[in-house]
Amino acid sequence: MCDDFVKATEAAALEAGRMRGQGDGPVAHRAAVDAMRRTLDDMAISARVTVGFGDRYGADGLIGGREVGAGGRRCELAIDALEGTESLARGQTGAMSVLAVAAPNHILPVPRMYMQKIVVGPRAAGSVDMDLPVRENLEAIAKAYDRPVKDISVITLDRPRHEDLIEEIRATKARIKLIPDGDITASISAAVQGTGDHVYIGIGGAPEGIMTAAAMRSLGGEIQARFWPLSRSEVDACLKLGIDDMEAKLSTDDMVKGDVVFCATGVTRSDLLRGVFYFGHGARTQTLVMCTRCRNVRFVDNIQLFTQERREIRL
Ligand code: FBP
Repeated sequence: MCDDFVKATEAAALEAGRMRGQGDGPVAHRAAVDAMRRTLDDMAISARVTVGFGDRYGADGLIGGREVGAGGRRCELAIDALEGTESLARGQTGAMSVLAVAAPNHILPVPRMYMQKIVVGPRAAGSVDMDLPVRENLEAIAKAYDRPVKDISVITLDRPRHEDLIEEIRATKARIKLIPDGDITASISAAVQGTGDHVYIGIGGAPEGIMTAAAMRSLGGEIQARFWPLSRSEVDACLKLGIDDMEAKLSTDDMVKGDVVFCATGVTRSDLLRGVFYFGHGARTQTLVMCTRCRNVRFVDNIQLFTQERREIRL
């Protein structure tokens, strides 16, 4: 069913991409959610959204607890119909539409709050521990890649809360990539060869942490994470979902178990994916689709024609 799920992220990306640079993130997010919801509702699935994002932008079509699908195979979904909402609204790079699918009760339900994370690819998996000082983790990663720490590239979100972290990284002489948004893309980038990135560290969204765990299951990488509550109401939201140990260090398996399908369609260009390209009578999308059961990682290029009329296709 992996290809059917690709249609859901493609539909969201096609709608959201129209709103690039329009300055209205919530409207773009709602359009993405509605398009994805329509596609999922046409599929032969009985799915429960375990992790959803839309509520932050006034879109409740795919929030946690919603049931979607036309009836069929039971599964569970984690959804961010538009990751990098504000980047898209500003016309910047790095927005994408993301969906992860697993068997029922295989995705950890999390509220919208922050999480501390460290993410590495297969080469460094098993050699980091988020409770160790940053220097020790970077030395372990450098060892796994058989190079000095100064040849390691660390990605983190450019946020005031990361000032101390950035100082600690700089002190090791590792190189840093400060990103404005999008820690799912950053984590995938750290986990695949050829990007020049080796680790993502920092505090970002907990739902994005779940998406990242889903991606790591296919890529053989590792995420370690811990909730980072800012208020009593966030702790209560966790308790309501059955999470009572806020200090627990979560592993990839704690966050997502079993076979997983992960789809991400580019809305605007990133290091990982091309953005949606509109050419009048059609549009071209690019989707990363990974399935642990099929054991494949594919980039799906799709040209969707908006009319029946035959016209020249732009490559
Ligand atoms: P959205 O999906 O809401 O657009 O989130 C973008 C993002 O940059 C995530 O990738 C990241 O985890 C989170 O925001 C960080 O939150 P904040 O912008 O509050 O620092």
